[in-house]
Amino acid sequence: MKGISYSRYGGPEVLEYGEVRDPKVGPDTVLVKVRAAAVNPVDWKCRAGYLDGVLDAVFPVIPGWDVSGVVVRPGAAVTEFSVGDEVIGYVREDFLSRGTLAEYVAAPVRTLARKPRNLTWEEAAGLPLVGLTAYQVLYKALRVRRGETVLIHAAAGGVGSIAVQLARHLGARAIGTASEANHDFVRSLGGEPVTYGEGLAERVRGLAPEGVDAAFDTIGGETLKTSANLLAPEGRLVSIADGDVVDYGGRYSFVRPDAEDLTRLAELAEQGVVSVHVSQTFPLERTADAYRRNEEGRTRGKIVVTVDWPDETQD
Ligand SMILES: NC(=O)c1ccc[n+]([C@@H]2O[C@H](COP(=O)([O-])OP(=O)(O)OC[C@H]3O[C@@H](n4cnc5c(N)ncnc54)[C@H](OP(=O)(O)O)[C@@H]3O)[C@@H](O)[C@H]2O)c1
Repeated sequence: MKGISYSRYGGPEVLEYGEVRDPKVGPDTVLVKVRAAAVNPVDWKCRAGYLDGVLDAVFPVIPGWDVSGVVVRPGAAVTEFSVGDEVIGYVREDFLSRGTLAEYVAAPVRTLARKPRNLTWEEAAGLPLVGLTAYQVLYKALRVRRGETVLIHAAAGGVGSIAVQLARHLGARAIGTASEANHDFVRSLGGEPVTYGEGLAERVRGLAPEGVDAAFDTIGGETLKTSANLLAPEGRLVSIADGDVVDYGGRYSFVRPDAEDLTRLAELAEQGVVSVHVSQTFPLERTADAYRRNEEGRTRGKIVVTVDWPDETQD
């Protein structure tokens, strides 16, 4: 099959498009014909070797953890899915080897859920990783409640744009940091935008003089420190970007594949509670350009890679 792979750590130039080995379909795994795969910052951080201390890379590595596609072959012991089912997945294992940026991926059932019917393939591919991240942080780690005020950083990005919508659904106010060009976008999600950088703390205090009940840090460093200082008494802090959060009494979170959470998220998407904004798509062959774009750090919503199948094989 065709796919993207890299045989050493490095920049986008190490990504190659060409023949990659076919996936093997384990007993509790399904073979998914990939329609779209989203790009996430973690993919290029892995590719650069930044996660080498925690994840083994089995070269050549096919990158990508997000997928939408169609089940073409369930493994021998799979009862959850059948041929033709449309699925989404956050297909992460504890090592880097066989990702989603290829024509097919073998996805363990624990990583999958049914695709929300109202989402395009591209939107659906953009949901799992960032959606699960936002869901697990807001629902499980921060336990956001009705009437609370939540500070969400990078509110226009992949994680933040879903987090704002989920926080609103939970009945909270969502103050979201973004550059001014993204303020209308953040408002369209239900958030109250504030410009990040110099003066951020004062601007947030202007909106929440008593402090925020919960802060969701997606940036780390100074932003984490500022967030800790903006907490109301008993306020909670979670970071997905900086392990130093524990020094501020907060907690670090790393998104886990979870079929139940993903199914719940898919339901919220079908109900119109959560939408995915796809800002740009690239064909599989141009995956390196998709990552170059994401590495600029200014993605609004999601960048998605599509696999274009000839008409006769469309599902
Ligand atoms: N631990 C985990 O489980 C986990 C899971 C997912 C993601 N992450 C990490 O979380 C971070 C965010 O992920 P993502 O997928 O949301 O990234 P992303 O979509 O690439 O984020 C891009 C957004 O970041 C905004 N931004 C850039 N610098 C900012 C700043 N200083 N303050 C506020 N916003 C800023 C940009 O907004 P403007 O264009 O308006 O500047 C842009 O909309 C990444 O570092 C990622 O690796 C961790």
